[in-house]
Amino acid sequence: MTSVLRELNSSNLNDGQKLAVKYFTVAILLFGAQVLFGLLAGLQYLHPGLLYGVLDFNVNRMVHINAMVVWLLYGFLGSVYWMLEEEAGHRIEGLRLGTLFFWILTLAVVVVVLVYLLVQVGPGEESTLWLINEGREYIEAPRWADIGIVASVLVFFYNVAITFSKGRYTGIGGVLVLDLLALFGIYLAGMFYTPNISIDQYWWWWVIHLWVEATWEVLVACIMAYGLMKVLGVSRRIVETWLYIEVALMFGSGILGLGHHYFWIGTPEYWFTIGGVFSALEPIPLVAMVVHAVFDAGVRHVRNTNHPTMAWLIAHAFGNFFGAGVWGFMHTLPQINLYTHGTQWSASHGHLAFFGAYATIVIAFFYLAIQRWRGNVWMSEGLPDGGWKWKWSLALLNIGMTGMTVAMLISGYVQSQIERAIEGSTWAGYFAAQGHPWFMQGMVWREIFGVSFAVGFVLLVWDLLTIGKHEARAARQIDGDHQQRPAFDGRAIQGAV
Ligand code: HEM
Ligand code: HEM
Ligand SMILES: [Fe+2]
Repeated sequence: MTSVLRELNSSNLNDGQKLAVKYFTVAILLFGAQVLFGLLAGLQYLHPGLLYGVLDFNVNRMVHINAMVVWLLYGFLGSVYWMLEEEAGHRIEGLRLGTLFFWILTLAVVVVVLVYLLVQVGPGEESTLWLINEGREYIEAPRWADIGIVASVLVFFYNVAITFSKGRYTGIGGVLVLDLLALFGIYLAGMFYTPNISIDQYWWWWVIHLWVEATWEVLVACIMAYGLMKVLGVSRRIVETWLYIEVALMFGSGILGLGHHYFWIGTPEYWFTIGGVFSALEPIPLVAMVVHAVFDAGVRHVRNTNHPTMAWLIAHAFGNFFGAGVWGFMHTLPQINLYTHGTQWSASHGHLAFFGAYATIVIAFFYLAIQRWRGNVWMSEGLPDGGWKWKWSLALLNIGMTGMTVAMLISGYVQSQIERAIEGSTWAGYFAAQGHPWFMQGMVWREIFGVSFAVGFVLLVWDLLTIGKHEARAARQIDGDHQQRPAFDGRAIQGAV
């Protein structure tokens, strides 16, 4: 038997993909940081004195969720750069600028995290906003970094838009470019400071809600469409038709669905009705996405070019539906939200939604990347080691996240019952709920399942480093898109020049 060793080789990648794997690498590192700081914050729920004064809960929590936002954004940027040249049928424009700004952005991220960790306490002055922390949950980065982020993102937008314009605009390309414009425009709403907390929250939610429930959803619908074409060989006509339907439904419900965050922040009462009605419609496009993915997989009897990617794409369709759709719907009517707002219900939904809708699809693209990076190796059934690593990491990550979600939901129920229903939302009721043994049991189980999640993460990294290394076979070929038009291969052009 001949033995092969397939090292990672960038000559297997086009220029956009070379840039993409840089983004993916940083994304995985930050994912690891997210898991680490999540475990620490979870432990502090159980032992409130742990690391007090050294690494406080609020700092751990901030690093945990900021790392999440940034690694997912890196994952999205990477995924877009990954598909750019093939989709546009043109070599990436502005590659040098793109690479330069990758390094600038990454340096800024490192500095911001170091400042979070080194300057944990201090006065809240104008200079604090500029240099240390803006104090807006999820997007705490100080203003100098905000400006850096906006600049990097404009470069990204320019690269993507110009590459499509010089090549061709596919349906996916067109939706993507318009969406990126909205995604980056909305970020600006989180950048100005006002001392009125209602007004501040009003704009802050433009970034948080409109990002995750409108522009991020559309972005992942685009990369999902591309993923289904690549992995399952679905025809472009079908994925693009679905894409248009999903996008129309998402914007139709998601924009005014924003109202579900305006129930209790001092905004006018009409938001009860608007928020209740439109956010209750938000799960509909998510159902469409599940039907689409499952239908495509069924029609092709799940014969595909990359099993781990396919498994994670399916995890995305279901995770998005349950985490965002079902878990979101549970507390989105104002009559219910009155009891659940600000309890572990939100955290339960937040975890399942961010993981289910976004972490999953980025992981799917990690596997797509590693396959090509090793020279388009076989990644379908019958892997040499039975594929135990990817299967176990898939299981541990999903079981870990499901378990954490259920544990938090149980704690959330205890809070709604004791703090809100029995004690009538008093200060004393808050503490009665937080200290209740049933609440604490949920928090213990959150940590236990968190450890399962962390083990799944370690396996994932190990698998990404090793899968396909000793594989002699080439990948199965079933690319639906290529049945309709010739593939564009950036390397062919480079070779000819
Ligand atoms: C992938 C999409 C989604 C993600 C990532 C997501 C994530 C989150 C997160 C992290 C929070 C907590 C925010 C905070 O810190 O206060 C939240 C709150 C909320 N989400 Fe979602 N969500 C998504 C979709 C949805 C959908 C589709 C619905 C409704 C059907 C929904 C309903 C809600 C409600 C009502 C709250 C407010 C909870 C409260 O403060 O009382 N979400 N979401
Ligand atoms: C080892 C696994 C993890 C543990 C132990 C953990 C633990 C925690 C803890 C203790 C908090 C603070 C909750 C609070 O303030 O009451 C938190 C917040 C949060 N985590 Fe995690 N986490 C983990 C993984 C993840 C993952 C993988 C994601 C998403 C991809 C995620 C998304 C979030 C979000 C969105 C929040 C804010 C929730 C809200 O404001 O309601 N976490 N996490
Ligand atoms: Fe929302």
